[in-house]
Amino acid sequence: MSATPHTPVPQQLGDPVPMTLTRLAEKRILGEPIVMITAYDYPSAQVAQEAGVDIVLVGDSGAMTVPGYPSTVPVSTDEMLMLAAAVRRGLHTPLLVGDLPFGSYEASDEQAITTAQRFVKEAGCDAVKLERGGTSAQRAAAIVQAGIPVMGHVGLTPQTATALGGYRAQARTSERALAVARDALALQEAGCFSIVFEAIPAAVAAELVARLEIPVIGIGAGPATDGQVLVLHDLLGIYDGHAPRFAKRYGEVKAQMIAGVAQYATEVRSRAFPTPEHTYSIDDEELDRFRAALG
Ligand code: KIV
Repeated sequence: MSATPHTPVPQQLGDPVPMTLTRLAEKRILGEPIVMITAYDYPSAQVAQEAGVDIVLVGDSGAMTVPGYPSTVPVSTDEMLMLAAAVRRGLHTPLLVGDLPFGSYEASDEQAITTAQRFVKEAGCDAVKLERGGTSAQRAAAIVQAGIPVMGHVGLTPQTATALGGYRAQARTSERALAVARDALALQEAGCFSIVFEAIPAAVAAELVARLEIPVIGIGAGPATDGQVLVLHDLLGIYDGHAPRFAKRYGEVKAQMIAGVAQYATEVRSRAFPTPEHTYSIDDEELDRFRAALG
């Protein structure tokens, strides 16, 4: 990659008004859908900025889409911080949420606060997200009390997918739906500013949204939620690993990338690239002097 971008990157992109927790709460009250996507690097942050989304999540899905781990479980806090800091550099106005990775917050309130503080201090995140209810609600309360906004995440929680029976829709019995309801209410009680509902029946999500006071962002949770989130790589077709039912595809970027690189390879092999327009020149006189000096 060239060290100099071909086109200068405008400094002020997308929505000029920074997204705040108050604006998000207002959007919920006004019934304005909240748009959230994931990003894992500087260029995808710029895309999110320019497209005018409301919230960018540096999701631990980045464990699979960037370094290629088989699940979200192995990613470390340092790896997530590196991704989040890159996103921060490309993002100006959407709210930036960093996902606390598996094993970085569950052990104690102190561990949770310390990790959350690293996302704010080292990566410039505005808020953090953690998964599950139960003890995670207590961790969320501790982080909120330490002054860092927290987003919850219930339903299918990929960090603990094995315990949930795999990557499958949740809350499909009244008992399981009540467990999700209890978790969501506990996270709201803990002070979370918003909650992600992943892979739960639309009718269950609708009942819960009506009973919660904070914005609910859905992924595979139907149309009643206050907003939607998708993984950028699923949305754009950058990544062709397993795509869940809810991952609507809006592009085929991987196919375009392969076509571009294959065309480059063809042109290098046939010497069709580079042409004079991609080549620097030197004055004949200077070149003669150079050749003479070379002997
Ligand atoms: O890691 C992630 O991308 C997420 C979203 C699916 C909400 O948690």
